Amino acid sequence: MSPKLAYQMRDLLPPSGAMLDEVLRGLAMRRKQISPKYFYDARGCELFDLICKLPEYYPTRTELGIMGVHAGAMADALGSDCAVIELGCGNSAKTRYLLEALCPSVFVAIDIAREQLEASCTTLAREFPDTRIIALRADFAHPVALPLPMLGAVRRRILCWPGSTIGNFTPAQARLLLRRWRHALGAHGGLLIGVDLKKDQARLNAAYNDAQGVTAAFNLNVLTRLNKELAANFDVAAFQHRAVYSAARSRVEMHLVSTCAQQVTVGGSSFAFRAGEAIHTENSYKYTIEDFAALGRTAGYLHRQCWTDDERLFAVHYLTAGGSTTV
Ligand code: AVJ
Repeated sequence: MSPKLAYQMRDLLPPSGAMLDEVLRGLAMRRKQISPKYFYDARGCELFDLICKLPEYYPTRTELGIMGVHAGAMADALGSDCAVIELGCGNSAKTRYLLEALCPSVFVAIDIAREQLEASCTTLAREFPDTRIIALRADFAHPVALPLPMLGAVRRRILCWPGSTIGNFTPAQARLLLRRWRHALGAHGGLLIGVDLKKDQARLNAAYNDAQGVTAAFNLNVLTRLNKELAANFDVAAFQHRAVYSAARSRVEMHLVSTCAQQVTVGGSSFAFRAGEAIHTENSYKYTIEDFAALGRTAGYLHRQCWTDDERLFAVHYLTAGGSTTV
């Protein structure tokens, strides 16, 4: 076997010092926080894959179902000769349906988790030999420098953002990110995005508090990661997983709650926790179809189409940059 990669890889992630700086800043805040992007080390990716299979965690299988049924209609809406850029590709399971239906000339996979990115691009390169596969390791909370010449002169650049990862950002941050991408995508750009719908609170709370405790392990794993990578000394057993839906804010919030008064050191800095004090680790915003269409409009897009499941648990939206928008 030739050791030559069947795809091109670019690592745009800032040097590791950026993680320490950001974590220290977050822990120094009055309300302590750690960004959810730090969940995804190798163990975190494994735990997330387990979450996706949990009976309570409906989003992944629902979105997969929507893609399975409607990928053809989505490809028709997008049209031929597209370059597809996927954010947070994970294992690209959902996008595979779209790639089959669309056969884009170029596919750019962007993810923060290296092993996952390599594994999924290796598989995709084998399955889609006619598509040029480019892997970008990047933190898409920050501007991502797209290798535009590598995308070629396609009719449309499509940003595919499945998984409701946009829910990790506040609506204001999401608007900013979408606006930035609209510029990067250019005049005929399109956005195909999976967004979890607002629903019954019990259903939401169960999805983030599974009976097997996998979500708890996923949440707590970030502390184990900081211990390993930032020479921190969190006593992981002295923190508890908490996830709760806030109807007022339309979001599930995840926290790690300190069970006692304790002192923790991270990269040489010391942080005091009161008993019951929490680190806010994730927001997962939920949107009605109309809410999201409105958010898209304020980011400069036209809301074109939306596909959902029979239970109306999850939505996949198609938006375009809009004819008159300057880029
Ligand atoms: C990957 C951000 C979409 O918010 O549902 C799953 C992550 N957190 N269980 C979500 C997650 C807890 C997930 N996203």
